[in-house]
Amino acid sequence: MAPGKDQAIKGEEMSADFYITTPIYYVNDKPHIGHAYTSIACDVLARFNRMNGHRVMFLTGTDEHGQKVENSAKKHDLDPLQYCDKMSQTFRDLTEILNISNDDFIRTTEPRHKTAVEKMWRTLLENGDIYKGTYKGWYNVSDEAFVPDNEVIDGGFSKDGKKLEFCEESSYFFRLSKWEQPLLAFFEAHPEFVRPRSKFNEVISFVKSGLKDLSISRSSFKWGIPVPGDDSHVIYVWLDALTNYLSAIGYGDNGYDRELWENSIHVIGKDILRFHAVYWVCFLLASGVKPPSTIFAHGWWTNNGQKISKSLGNTIDPIEIVDKYGLDQFRYFILREVPFGSDGDFSESALKRRINADLCNDLGNLIQRVLKLATKNLGTDIRYATECSEIHPEFATKCKTMLESFNKSMKEFAISKALESVFELVSYCNQFVEITKPWSLAKSSHKEFEYVISSLLDSFRLIAFCLSPFMPGTADKIFSMIGAHVKSANDLQENQELYRISNIEILFNKIED
Ligand code: MSP
Repeated sequence: MAPGKDQAIKGEEMSADFYITTPIYYVNDKPHIGHAYTSIACDVLARFNRMNGHRVMFLTGTDEHGQKVENSAKKHDLDPLQYCDKMSQTFRDLTEILNISNDDFIRTTEPRHKTAVEKMWRTLLENGDIYKGTYKGWYNVSDEAFVPDNEVIDGGFSKDGKKLEFCEESSYFFRLSKWEQPLLAFFEAHPEFVRPRSKFNEVISFVKSGLKDLSISRSSFKWGIPVPGDDSHVIYVWLDALTNYLSAIGYGDNGYDRELWENSIHVIGKDILRFHAVYWVCFLLASGVKPPSTIFAHGWWTNNGQKISKSLGNTIDPIEIVDKYGLDQFRYFILREVPFGSDGDFSESALKRRINADLCNDLGNLIQRVLKLATKNLGTDIRYATECSEIHPEFATKCKTMLESFNKSMKEFAISKALESVFELVSYCNQFVEITKPWSLAKSSHKEFEYVISSLLDSFRLIAFCLSPFMPGTADKIFSMIGAHVKSANDLQENQELYRISNIEILFNKIED
């Protein structure tokens, strides 16, 4: 019995549903690398959980109300809804271009969302958490955020240099201060609620410094969902937007899918953590809905070391990058380059390096070289070698431990570490080829040659399986080249008795300088 066969590869344990969400993207501008990053990361989590047998609902969409969008529509001389229709479509197109497997795409201008937001408002009102007053203070239109006086710099700028507006307007308020202690108690009881931990600590300190009641309506412009019973106000865009996570699972109807909500994961950028971990959780506590299970805050990309901003003219268009370097190359780079949760720097030279070193030299060459050698000596149909010597018993162990650490990393949101494990196996396979020298074995020991090739084919099947959430197109190509199609962890547990090799092709082209 070959070592590959006596150590059955086990997948993830089954059960549980997962609800994975991206932030909904503002439609005031075209998509950029930050949007692509969150969507791809969520896509990987969704695909990973699906392939492990879980029911997954993966949601993305667009955030279309508020002053910022209204201003943009005006600038483009369009009626706000017309403008939103046009811009929302560019985000929908991006999901196609990036091969995002979302199950739904929500727009905050849809009736199902309006009903849900109205319901949320009424519940908060009935529970005594809303009162009317006047907001007098600063507003950051770019972030759609009310800015406390102690965060205003140079008489009218945000800490990151954005021009603020001073407002004095009639407003409804949410009793955020009332929820300070229950929120801290909730955090205490859920030590892994916000990840990474360093970000959670920042949130906890912010809450401990004291929560003030929050303005939740605007009355100086019109583009939003009217406050039920008072259409001189529109609901604050963040209360509107955050509710999308519930609208999409039926909150506005008679109930919502509680099984999905039980395991709900919001993946967001670190800049919008306060809205999610503080405001959203308090809205939910106040309305009697359990908070989500996890909020993961990822880091920010810079461009060649510089903060990305429209005014600096250094925004990165994900579609241009995909056109130039290929989709799976981009998906791989963006998730491999920086640990998920840390900030990262985007540069085309780093992207080229990863494509050439990891994808072309390590992975692509390995597969091509081995498959060519295999077909040259064994033909296209290769039965698994059941008898062989014990020269490399650690090969199967290596595959098994790779899958274990891969699964562990994925469950901990250590996405780049998971990829690192796969590429460690790729390197190991390359060394295995160098050590066993199958081209010599083909002449000296046919049996041994069959064993080496079978082991390598098994590892390719495993590598393609693990890469499939990250590089779905590449994984499919590998599967079809070796005639194995593993769609789920269950399939992986079945031995592949026969590999049928066909259409050996170059997986990645080297990028010349
Ligand atoms: N509409 C709100 C979210 C509402 S969710 C209920 C919003 N939209 S956004 O379009 O401005 O930002 C969407 C996401 O992109 C945020 O998670 C933000 O962190 C992320 N990014 C924006 N620029 C980024 C980088 N330079 N790098 C990484 N992500 C960044 O906020």
